[in-house]
Amino acid sequence: MRGGSCFARCAPHAWPDGHGASDRPRLSVGADIVVGVSLALYRRYRPESFAEVIGQEHVTDPLQQALRNNRVNHAYLFSGPRGCGKTTSARILARCLNCEQGPTPTPCGECQSCRDLARNGPGSIDVIEIDAASHGGVDDARDLREKAFFGPAGSRYKIYIIDEAHMVTPAGFNALLKVVEEPPEHLKFIFATTEPEKVIGTIRSRTHHYPFRLVPPGTLRDYLAEVCAREAIPVEPVVYPLVVRAGAGSVRDSMSVMDQLLAGAGEAGVTYTMATALLGYTDAALLDDVVDAFAAGDGAAAFEVVDRVIEGGNDPRRCGIW
Ligand SMILES: Nc1ncnc2c1ncn2[C@@H]1O[C@H](COP(=O)(O)OP(=O)(O)OP(=O)(O)O)[C@@H](O)[C@H]1O
Ligand SMILES: [Mg+2]
Ligand SMILES: [Zn+2]
Repeated sequence: MRGGSCFARCAPHAWPDGHGASDRPRLSVGADIVVGVSLALYRRYRPESFAEVIGQEHVTDPLQQALRNNRVNHAYLFSGPRGCGKTTSARILARCLNCEQGPTPTPCGECQSCRDLARNGPGSIDVIEIDAASHGGVDDARDLREKAFFGPAGSRYKIYIIDEAHMVTPAGFNALLKVVEEPPEHLKFIFATTEPEKVIGTIRSRTHHYPFRLVPPGTLRDYLAEVCAREAIPVEPVVYPLVVRAGAGSVRDSMSVMDQLLAGAGEAGVTYTMATALLGYTDAALLDDVVDAFAAGDGAAAFEVVDRVIEGGNDPRRCGIW
């Protein structure tokens, strides 16, 4: 890793998700269009508070309780599969910690820090998001260590969100050990990673570890339905299970698939036919027909279904996946 000031160069994080804080009982959404380009659905709906994070109550509830009790640790490790809310929750925790009314589990949304850290906010100079994939070397870590001792510019805490933490090199982690173990009062660390076992044990043992999980299908389905209702595009209810399956428990992946379907929706909205075609699932009608053909011992009818599968451009090896 080249020397010097990589950590400084990446700070402060500019929250890229074109959104405004608004009245939002459950789901919040902001500007749809940024310079003529539609922002990805998952970015437009990125949660701004723990109440909006779905399927991770085993993490978000105790975190909120810790905030309520004012028993927040100085370092956290958020682990779990991709697209399940680790980075999002790290940003929310930072927002909770630095709210002028806080630390609080429900940031006010009004104060300077809350506005800075909102989805469409400019970011806060005191919340520094570091991508360890590109800035995980020992020089970067030493640089962070030096800067970390300076107090926050305008907030309660200076918070480092170290994303993709498994990419920090062993030497990088070692350079951080001391400051993660005994940070000054004003300093908080949140490590986020898909591979917690690659975060060296000496760092892990200095953090509170919160494992995120894949989101259960029912929860994901309800969430997608809620988002689509907000988007005001009709979606045939049978489409949701297909999207949920394609997303394999990842909220981001499911939102991406849904986004693609919404983008291609015509007058009738998102239809089952369109979804099966795009996602490569076999239309249930074909499966019904083939079962009927077998039941009736009608070989010709069975082959006719196979012909329809192939004529439909589907891969026969995937036929039956629906
Ligand atoms: N639990 C969740 N509840 C609601 N939305 C979520 C949740 N998890 C992810 N999302 C959506 O997916 C997007 C990506 O989430 P996030 O960046 O937090 O994932 P991650 O766990 O950090 O993934 P990665 O390991 O790939 O970095 C968010 O913008 C948000 O819209
Ligand atoms: Mg992430
Ligand atoms: Zn606030």
